[in-house]
Amino acid sequence: MQKLFLFALLLFAFSFKPGEPPCEEIRLRDKALFPVGAAVNTDKLKNEENYWKIVPVQFNSLTPERIMKPAYLHPQKDKYNFFETDHLMDFCKQFKIRLHGHTLIWHKSLPEWMETFKGNKTEWEALMKEHIQTIIHHCKGTIKSWDVVNEAFNDDGTLRKNIWLKNIGESYIEKAFLYASEADSTAKFFYNDYSLEKHGEKFGAVIAFLKGLKAKGIKVDGVGMQMHVALDYPVITDIDAAAMHLQEEGFLVHYSEVDISIRAGQSIFAKRSNLLALQKQRIKAITSGFMKLKQAYRFGITFWGVSDNDSWLTEESLRAMPLLYDASYKIKPMYCGFVEALEN
Ligand code: XIL
Repeated sequence: MQKLFLFALLLFAFSFKPGEPPCEEIRLRDKALFPVGAAVNTDKLKNEENYWKIVPVQFNSLTPERIMKPAYLHPQKDKYNFFETDHLMDFCKQFKIRLHGHTLIWHKSLPEWMETFKGNKTEWEALMKEHIQTIIHHCKGTIKSWDVVNEAFNDDGTLRKNIWLKNIGESYIEKAFLYASEADSTAKFFYNDYSLEKHGEKFGAVIAFLKGLKAKGIKVDGVGMQMHVALDYPVITDIDAAAMHLQEEGFLVHYSEVDISIRAGQSIFAKRSNLLALQKQRIKAITSGFMKLKQAYRFGITFWGVSDNDSWLTEESLRAMPLLYDASYKIKPMYCGFVEALEN
């Protein structure tokens, strides 16, 4: 009995290697046949060694998580603050990384002066035009793709009542894309939103709207499906169908803010290791689906952060654990699932 116990103990000791990575850490950016991106936090890029050691090695596309939102970039009517953006543009040039502009028009992260601006429709249009064109002009040549309008639709497919809709009317979306293309006729312009991956009512409304813009000659090049998803929702067939649908309509496809919460919709008793294994399968399926698109339509897969430590979901729940790296910047099974999809 004692011998048996000793044997079991030895077996356990040899089979259990704490800290062993679940697969080899490679350079994702070299392996993938599409740009691999991350939302980047510029403070961390400057200050956290773990963070800046990973970013330029793994990613060849970055989306600024905060610093290009209107509240940061355009704090007063006649004042723009491009300090952080300029640094990030230099960083991207140095490491040959694509920088994707996020986001010109949104209902959140607005500076107070903009939210409280009093003016008629013409004055609001002028404000929007000046905002969009000043930013695009400043970044021209370095930033070649933009989320022009972000989250303009409600889940039921109606237009969100934001300051733009209230002050300009439905035409604000069309105008935003028009002003953007006047400022840079060669950049790629995106509409970006969440829940599009459900391929439901909201997706239907968005695609109909964007097709309408294209028919009028407005330049809309692609759609960002944010993909803040759970382990089992939306189902993979809906995600794939939404992406294919975009391709059929001639839109570039960006999985623009991918994270997979391991706790959303799961029992609180579910074992973390099981959930991480499911998360690995989930990213593998999502990525394999994306790779079924023609290469010319794969704008990229961008993760909304680098590690579980810096995800916006972590601010709400420490247990979401939605990204490729764990809180101490070690690769997770999810990283390996992504690599496996790239290898197939
Ligand atoms: C989030 C950032 O991750 C947070 O750090 C910030 O406080 C709020 O915005 N959809 C978007 C992103 O388009 O810009 C949002 O980013 C997440 C939801």
